[in-house]
Amino acid sequence: MALVTSKEMFAKALKSDYAVGAFNVNNMEIIQGIVDAAKEEQAPLILQVSAGARKYAKPAYLLKLVEAAILDTGLDIVLHLDHGEDFDICKKCVDDGFTSVMIDGSKHEFKENIALTKEVVEYAHAHGVVVEAELGKLAGVEDNINVDARSATFTDPQEAAEFVAKTGVDSLAIAIGTSHGAYKFKGEPYLDFERLKEIHKLIPDTPLVLHGASTVLPEFVARCNEYGGNIPGAQGVPEEMIRTATAHGICKVNIDTDLRLAMTAEIRRFLIEKPAEFDPRKYLGPARDAIKSMVQHKIKNVLNASGQR
Ligand code: G3H
Ligand code: 13P
Ligand code: ZN
Repeated sequence: MALVTSKEMFAKALKSDYAVGAFNVNNMEIIQGIVDAAKEEQAPLILQVSAGARKYAKPAYLLKLVEAAILDTGLDIVLHLDHGEDFDICKKCVDDGFTSVMIDGSKHEFKENIALTKEVVEYAHAHGVVVEAELGKLAGVEDNINVDARSATFTDPQEAAEFVAKTGVDSLAIAIGTSHGAYKFKGEPYLDFERLKEIHKLIPDTPLVLHGASTVLPEFVARCNEYGGNIPGAQGVPEEMIRTATAHGICKVNIDTDLRLAMTAEIRRFLIEKPAEFDPRKYLGPARDAIKSMVQHKIKNVLNASGQR
């Protein structure tokens, strides 16, 4: 049991039809819910920390909480920086003991993205840390109907091959129609699987990463709305599409929004149903349980990763 890199996890997942869940963490209850689910399912696990999470919880707390989770569960866990925007934050995380970092140069021009990614790869690899990069831009809600916008923003397969060869990056996040948050599609959900297959064909040894992969589970949206919330029209990536993606080179599936919704739904319900309670453990406990069962469902029924530890 230790903090590990994703190298072996991805090598295994690449040969098979399952993917490793990468869950965003911001506090103790979220971490506990996720690791307890992974332990019960004996699944490989990535816990990821965004710049916002570092700001909210402070790096030392997150690091120690993840170390505590390893001690408590006996799991091997990858600790990953999510969407590092520059060399400095990647370096800080490498120096802090993260085993994986993402340099997200997707907002830059192709050549600049390559140069930035290369710089991070050199530093990270010299310290035994693996690197994820991103090529292409995640869609906004409007993009799923506009074909021109698709080819302008989705990952170009030839560029993906050139990017990997020139940077030596360990895994690549691609844009095929997903987006972050709870409002991913206006109409019918659409992902460009032909593009995914083409990318996977050109770089079959590179583990691919799907960001914006929450399903925005209707039961949690409904519960939030029933108990005073206001999140109408929320829609995510159907579970069947995630399953298809994992069969075509997607080895890492990023999930944050579904954690947020599960947690918030339970807290909303508790506070409305039990207005006299004010002990935070009384509502954070059920919120943690909701995260655990949601993550277990993902690992077992969507990512197909049970027993793959
Ligand atoms: O990719 C975005 C993740 O959901 C993290 O979100 O930057 O609000 O922590 P955050
Ligand atoms: P969701 O907003 O779909 O959960 O995506 C999370 C993500 O991609 C984190 O990097
Ligand atoms: Zn993301």
